[in-house]
Amino acid sequence: MPALDPISILRERVSAAILAAFGDEAAGADPLVAPARNPEFGDFQSNAAMPLAKRLSKKPREIAQALLEHLQVEDLVEPPTIAGPGFLNFRLKPETVASLLASLDSDALGVVPAAETQRVALDMSSVNVAKQMHVGHIRSTIIGDCLSNVLERLGHTVIRQNHLGDWGVPICMTLSSLIDQGIDFEALTVDQLSNAYRAATAAGKPDYRGLEAVRRFDLGPKAAAELEEQVAGAEEVIARAKDTLLRLQSGDAEVVHRWQQLIDVTMEECERIYGRLHVHLTREHDAGESMYRDRLAPLVERLLGEKHAEFSEGAVIVRIEGMDEPFMIRKSDGGFLYATTDMAAIDYRVRELGCTRIIYVVDARQRLHFRQLFGAAQKAGLSDGNVELVHVAFGAILGEDGRPLKTRSGENIKLSDLLDEAVERAAKVVREKNPELEAAAQQRVAEAVGIGAIKYADMSQDVSKDYSFSFDRMLAFEGDTGPYLLNAYVRIQSIFRKAQEAGVDVGEHSDTPLLLEEPQERTLALAMLRYPGAVNSVAEKLEPHHLCTFAYSLATAFASFYEHCPVLKADSAESKASRLRLCHLTSRLLEDAFKLLGLPLVEQM
Ligand code: ARG
Repeated sequence: MPALDPISILRERVSAAILAAFGDEAAGADPLVAPARNPEFGDFQSNAAMPLAKRLSKKPREIAQALLEHLQVEDLVEPPTIAGPGFLNFRLKPETVASLLASLDSDALGVVPAAETQRVALDMSSVNVAKQMHVGHIRSTIIGDCLSNVLERLGHTVIRQNHLGDWGVPICMTLSSLIDQGIDFEALTVDQLSNAYRAATAAGKPDYRGLEAVRRFDLGPKAAAELEEQVAGAEEVIARAKDTLLRLQSGDAEVVHRWQQLIDVTMEECERIYGRLHVHLTREHDAGESMYRDRLAPLVERLLGEKHAEFSEGAVIVRIEGMDEPFMIRKSDGGFLYATTDMAAIDYRVRELGCTRIIYVVDARQRLHFRQLFGAAQKAGLSDGNVELVHVAFGAILGEDGRPLKTRSGENIKLSDLLDEAVERAAKVVREKNPELEAAAQQRVAEAVGIGAIKYADMSQDVSKDYSFSFDRMLAFEGDTGPYLLNAYVRIQSIFRKAQEAGVDVGEHSDTPLLLEEPQERTLALAMLRYPGAVNSVAEKLEPHHLCTFAYSLATAFASFYEHCPVLKADSAESKASRLRLCHLTSRLLEDAFKLLGLPLVEQM
């Protein structure tokens, strides 16, 4: 199927013109086609002349002139013009817009599967067992889900991997403390569990610094005794955790059973949240750290044997070319690290899952870890030139004060509390807007508005940047928000309902001629045609916001169409049918974009 997206088509034509005009001298030059900055001059522009001028030491206008002479676009656009220093402006012919739009109106909505499909492991969510999911986990979860949806849509096989933190000393601290307290594991709740986690990790932190200071500054026997007791207690907690880990490792039935219960309690809560977030992630996708436990020792031995790893002061490290810091994969006490597990996970994902691409949607603060990991994996031959490792590093969620979002008492906000609050606030707005809606429907709408608002606010940002979280902003019905988009969709559904009530045929007819006479109809059509390009951009750049930008510009284009172009009261039967078809297509595109973004839809609100 040929491309339907005008930008891709024009890109090909401009590239051909560059080649025809300058040959090899301009090899690989970017055609730089984008939507026009100033719609007065056209629909699209190419900025290719500027960088080419630099490269070929010529004037940009001369280059633009040469491109113009070689461009073959008469079938698509009005005669192109040159503006400013050397921009090429294109305006699509009305019949081009109509015929592209008619082709977009297919099941695939113009989205073409990738020429070469891949098996992709997508590391997402990756929560820690015994810890409550907090706001920090939402980004990995929803961005990972959207990227998976989009890659799948393009024909790739995506294997979602929830790399749970379910192994090691910290979780064993919680486990041993719960066992010591004689907790009834059958009745264990998430709150109990996360409190126990917090208490245990605090109890397991020996204050060596404090003790040293007390001794150095001779702060008295009482202070010294207290700190000695603290340190001894903490060391005891750690020793017990290590002992529990040993029992877990050796398969002690009781400990293994209790450990499994911790995982189950944590994951039941996570599953509830995934469901609420409309994220496709279930226990099937669990691929926690514990999965690799028996692979760590042999892997380190293998890398030592192959001379990819070496000893350094008793520890085992991998030296990475071009990086000062070596990557430690075994501590001098023989213990393994987060890093070792990640090395084993790459080995597994490449050799056993057969993936040629691994995408990690993880907090930007782990950037160094992933740089080292990727370098070490390559050095150690775990991933060769056929395997691509990518870290999608996302920024932090900040409060309105510009600091990491926390509760008033400085603790991490529980994700479920955050979702509850969004839905509660949405319920208020929904009740005000539509008091007639019955209670059950109100609740459903509030849930969709609240959850959608949070997700949209998150994904419409540049992934790598920090963003500030504001309920008021994200729940507004005006502007680039989830509720605004949902409202556009709902409006269209109400047109269909009214049409039906009036006995108008609202069936979708692929042979209805599309009349794009009004400027708002044309703008709407152009906005729709960006869909395949937006989906491709998300996949290429691994950034969900391109779909959000698409959906927002579609919704605004629809709003002005709706305002200026009566649908059911159109002047002629042809115009009415054409506009209904535009409504249908807009509705389907919004629905599809929502599906890929994982945003809930409602039919009315
Ligand atoms: N559990 C880790 C954390 O919460 C994230 C794991 C990310 N994935 C990975 N393969 N390292 O920080």
